[in-house]
Amino acid sequence: MDYMKAFETIVTQQLARLERLKNDTKAIDYKALDTIVIGIIGGDGIGPAITAQAHRVMEELLKDEVKTGKVEFKVIDGLTIENRASKGKAIPDDVLEEIKSCHVLLKGPTTTPRKGDKWGNIESANVAMRKALDLFANVRPVKIPEDGIDWTFFRENTECLYAMGSQGVDICDELAIDFRVITDPGTERIARQAFEYARNNGKTRVSIVTKANIVKKTDGKFLEVCKRVAQEYPEIEVDDWYIDIMTAKLIDPKRRNQFQVLILPNLYGDILTDEAAEFQGGVGTAGSANIGSRYAMFEAIHGSAPRMVEEGREKYADPSSVMRAAVMLLSHIGYQEQSDKLARALDICTVTEQKVKITGNSDGATSDQLSDYILETIQEM
Ligand code: IPM
Ligand code: MG
Repeated sequence: MDYMKAFETIVTQQLARLERLKNDTKAIDYKALDTIVIGIIGGDGIGPAITAQAHRVMEELLKDEVKTGKVEFKVIDGLTIENRASKGKAIPDDVLEEIKSCHVLLKGPTTTPRKGDKWGNIESANVAMRKALDLFANVRPVKIPEDGIDWTFFRENTECLYAMGSQGVDICDELAIDFRVITDPGTERIARQAFEYARNNGKTRVSIVTKANIVKKTDGKFLEVCKRVAQEYPEIEVDDWYIDIMTAKLIDPKRRNQFQVLILPNLYGDILTDEAAEFQGGVGTAGSANIGSRYAMFEAIHGSAPRMVEEGREKYADPSSVMRAAVMLLSHIGYQEQSDKLARALDICTVTEQKVKITGNSDGATSDQLSDYILETIQEM
């Protein structure tokens, strides 16, 4: 009856987590801080090269704040796959300590080891960081202006099947059970983020996505709590969808541009945001914000392109997605004007004007040249 013990441990852990969530209601106020520390985490492969470019552009945009000491940058090495694998940890202790000394983080891609590869069986650094820093809201914007599409996904980032993804139980040789967790406070905080975002950004509609007709307890709770929070935002129209039909409606030309803000439990959010990013040009074009009440981490969601590094081509890597992540970071800590400038410069330099083009090869520009062009464009504003 070993599995009964396993169930007991899981329930005890989750009840303790629930208590922690109930007590964690205060959000950080960046304005009240003497110094906002921005951590720059290179990650793996092309990560250090492209985050260095975003760092350079942010240093320029915030140069007055750096001078007065209101903002400080901190480069954090050591979140590489080599170091993580040699320490056998998703985030080595000393690296986590450095990360925790920052307020917000810009992160390059980190390789997620797969079963059977040379890195051994370590947990994804992304998932570990979301847990360690309690980054509960994964905000993923997708824009396709020519189709009138402007979606913002609020994916819950700490619960659902991810909460206990590696704590499933083999009951016997032929039966395995995994666990899905949804809590009231965990749902309330993601719903509130989504509705506040809608209210502050002139959005008129929020769509809740679940499979509550089948997964009655957990999705049922998620839907119920989101609807409860919605009552505090009477000016916003609310609808709810099942994940299967929502997946279809995202490709329906008559319906897709009517969606604005979407709230989803973790796994549905994981899947739907990849589909959505693909319409925009692939996951490589999407930035992602991971927001908690004490910390926030911003990242590009593409891979680390180890082959580019092996072939010595990292200087030709495209830094624009990690700069899109920097746009979100600047806005999050209250530097909206700088954020808007960078967003406009990226639109000009990588979409409309494109005087300098990155190809990933020596026939294209280097990431340094693209950053020069972005900085010049910002200077002209
Ligand atoms: C994402 C990724 C991660 C996830 C992986 C890398 C663990 O797919 O950020 O969407 O499943 O959440
Ligand atoms: Mg994903």
